[in-house]
Amino acid sequence: MEPMANPRSFFLTTPIFYVNDAPHIGHAYTEVAADVLARWHRQGGDDTWFLTGTDEHGQKILRTATANGVEPKEWADRLVESAWKPLLDTINISNDDFIRTTDARHEEGVAKFLQKLYDDGHVYAGEFEALYCVGCEEFKPKSEILDGTGEFEGEKVCAIHSKPLELLQEKNYFFKMSAFQDRLLALYEERPDFVQPASARNEVVAFVQQGLEDLSISRTSFDWGVPIPWDSSHVTYVWFDALLNYVTAIGYGRDDAEFDRRWPASHLVGKDILRFHAVIWPAMLMAAGIEVPDHVFAHGWLLVGGEKMSKSKLTGIAPNEITDTFGADAFRYYFMRAVSFGHDGSFSWEDLAARYHAELANGFGNLASRVLAMNAKYFEGRVPAPLEEQAEHADDAEIRELAASVAARADERIEAFAIHEAIAAVWELVDALNGYITEQEPWVLAKDPGQRDRLASVLYTASEGLRALAELLSPVIPEAAQKLWAALGAEETLGELAAQPIREAGRWRRLPAGVQQHPLAGLFPRIETDGSAK
Ligand code: MSP
Repeated sequence: MEPMANPRSFFLTTPIFYVNDAPHIGHAYTEVAADVLARWHRQGGDDTWFLTGTDEHGQKILRTATANGVEPKEWADRLVESAWKPLLDTINISNDDFIRTTDARHEEGVAKFLQKLYDDGHVYAGEFEALYCVGCEEFKPKSEILDGTGEFEGEKVCAIHSKPLELLQEKNYFFKMSAFQDRLLALYEERPDFVQPASARNEVVAFVQQGLEDLSISRTSFDWGVPIPWDSSHVTYVWFDALLNYVTAIGYGRDDAEFDRRWPASHLVGKDILRFHAVIWPAMLMAAGIEVPDHVFAHGWLLVGGEKMSKSKLTGIAPNEITDTFGADAFRYYFMRAVSFGHDGSFSWEDLAARYHAELANGFGNLASRVLAMNAKYFEGRVPAPLEEQAEHADDAEIRELAASVAARADERIEAFAIHEAIAAVWELVDALNGYITEQEPWVLAKDPGQRDRLASVLYTASEGLRALAELLSPVIPEAAQKLWAALGAEETLGELAAQPIREAGRWRRLPAGVQQHPLAGLFPRIETDGSAK
């Protein structure tokens, strides 16, 4: 036998979330997208590592903690335990690691990285005066500074937060980022898929072409951060600290074997933090002599009432407001299917309820329960034996071929981060199977003993279709897929669902005939909505 090739490494990250407040569905959206990709790659046999975590230093967190009368670390602990870790359960996230920027492994890695940049001459001390937005934790570029109106008349405000900017004048350490302008432009040119989608790439290229300035990487006016290793009167700028989580979590400066196994990463980020990831981060890595990431993919915003959903603008919706009623699977499915990944998408309760009923309850859930009920009724709950392959009916062949094509296209779309298109491809099989059942009318065939073989083939084809769907939908709706898998009798014969090679989901005749199946409780029960808020 050929020796097995080493599996391909797939290291995927989400942004690490600020712990100044509890999560809303915008945060959950990034997590779910990353989780679907990670589960898909894991099931595809890739050496997958999925990292998420929390961003706990900086002025924003310090101010929130102080306003609540507690030390920042105590505040961060509280929010991580009461809000951010529970979020991962609420929406069924399968992360392999959770990094906090207050972890010793992180703080030590940050210090090592900084010291290296300093020793190699990429850092200098300087005076600085500029307008800072604490909401963004950023000195704002001119293009994002606006004249305030109303209560902020006469002040300069942040274009994103609409709040006044603060004029800071400090002695800072600077990272010579400007020196990397040409190398960055060459990177975007040589690797057009480094920043995705194309609109994000264009924005980044235009930004860097305007000219890069050096980056202030330390602060002296407060001490909630990682001390600068050669000058403890400064703490590290929170973004510089935060970006490094992607390497400190996998052993930077601590465990070279682990680091080499995982790095480089693919980063998923919201478009509001694209510049940090597509400009500052690769420049930092270049300075340290580390390979740049594989990809930086910027997704859009969830909009509520036409605006970016945010708690500060009082449009925040907590994820469990949705999952309490519709469940985690529906949450995951809805946002991945209804929003084109890479573009903004509007959330509404009406749209969620409509898709839940049309697609999950009537489209998929019904298909599964009908087929299993017919197997129970006509074949004593066993997977029926199909006719031999040479006698395959053209309609059955069509389903088999569609399953193979759908599985291949979905995988190709996932590789390209087009999650919504991957799900749409899989749904072609859901729709085709529903149409197939309607046309074949197994309940009519069942009345004619002469059609017993045909009935068996039709229900075998439908059962195999469900087997393929369970495998392909497992990354998106893991709970429902697992219930279906168990009901099909696949667990006993094919093993765990998560262990099924997703890239072979379209291969036919996997479910052995004669296997005992099990009753299936409604996968997506109807939900009575009062037509108003939910
Ligand atoms: N702490 C930084 C990230 C550091 S990564 C080294 C941060 N945190 S955040 O909590 O403010 O945002 C985290 C992610 O949530 C970002 O990707 C952001 O785009 C995303 N979202 C916040 N509101 C959102 C929507 N309304 N819609 C979609 N995603 C949004 O930034």
